[in-house]
Amino acid sequence: METVEVLHMNKGVGETSYAMNSTVQNKIIYVTNPATKKAIVEILCSSRPMRMGIADLGCSSGPNALRVISEIVDVVHANSRVLDCPVPELVVHLNDLFTNDFNTVFDSLPSFYKTQRQEKGNEFGSTCFVSAVPGSFYGRLFPSKSLHLVHSSSSLHWLSQAPLDLKDGWGRGLNKGKIYISKSSPQCVLDAYLRQFQNDFSLFLQSRSQEIVAGGYMVLSLMGRQSMDPTTPHCCYQWELLAQALMSMVSEGLVEEKKLDSFDAPYYAPCIEEMKLEIEKEGSFMVVCHEAYEINWDAGMEQQSDSTSSGELVARTIRAVVESMLEFHFGSHIIDEVFRRYAKLVEEHLSKNRTKYINLVISLVKRN
Ligand SMILES: C[S@@+](CC[C@H](N)C(=O)[O-])C[C@H]1O[C@@H](n2cnc3c(N)ncnc32)[C@H](O)[C@@H]1O
Repeated sequence: METVEVLHMNKGVGETSYAMNSTVQNKIIYVTNPATKKAIVEILCSSRPMRMGIADLGCSSGPNALRVISEIVDVVHANSRVLDCPVPELVVHLNDLFTNDFNTVFDSLPSFYKTQRQEKGNEFGSTCFVSAVPGSFYGRLFPSKSLHLVHSSSSLHWLSQAPLDLKDGWGRGLNKGKIYISKSSPQCVLDAYLRQFQNDFSLFLQSRSQEIVAGGYMVLSLMGRQSMDPTTPHCCYQWELLAQALMSMVSEGLVEEKKLDSFDAPYYAPCIEEMKLEIEKEGSFMVVCHEAYEINWDAGMEQQSDSTSSGELVARTIRAVVESMLEFHFGSHIIDEVFRRYAKLVEEHLSKNRTKYINLVISLVKRN
């Protein structure tokens, strides 16, 4: 099943929505900001464009979508002033999959434009034009040479699909009792995930290389790992605990074992070496800088946690992201129970371990 058919962040602004449960991703945008700012300064200094094409890939819905754009606009305005050049018109494209809740993003656009006009004081209206471009970033989305800056945060770890070759000759799942790479996964599962990542990331680079002007930048921020070992807990333990929650339901007859064995997350947390290898092979981009950041599983949520446990907060974050996929595969009837169990398992885990997410930030420039 392709990701495009099964993945969307929880819609709206209710208790389980992505909008209300995306403070970890907000923190990740914050750590990515310096790289984004540097890229914008380089673009302005080197080409002083009259019109700047900008895309945020995997924008989702909720406060993060327009926060990214508003920070980019601020940096462009501030640096145009410093360079004493006219502020370029900003043609901003928000991209996500077709089923993304773009309506919630559009609802907040009037207040975004109003703030922009008030802060930037442009009597003729905004110099920033926002539109939505639905579709998969594993393929072409924009006209040739129309973009100066591509930004993507917390999205590129989603594969276009889970690897297809995770079954034996009788159609039985090879990654028994697991839903992602795990310490107990056979080597063929690790290899299949790596191959899927290589194919997808290569297609991503080829597509963007057509769309970005020479000297344009991509700032990509995604879940990853620092070790070469794809079974290291920092990159897969959140899935390990989710598999444990599902497994406990299998043992009580609440979930079918073969259902669990046939579910594989379309996700891959690469290390920087794996990314660099594909970038070199594709050849259109040069790596400018990269950095790995440790992010707490409950980052930024401390203030909300008066009576809510860390386990519950982490479970809400993960639910807002993966509920659509689990519902599609297992049915909606298991969702509340699986996340109740997951919250307990996360709470127990965090009381004994300091496992963190590793977030990779990589900045690339398009060669001439
Ligand atoms: C965790 S959200 C991140 C949203 C936002 N960038 C943020 O930082 O809060 C990941 C987003 O990537 C989107 N996504 C995943 N695969 C995609 C693809 N192939 N093309 C476009 N968007 C994709 C998902 O639909 C989801 O909205």
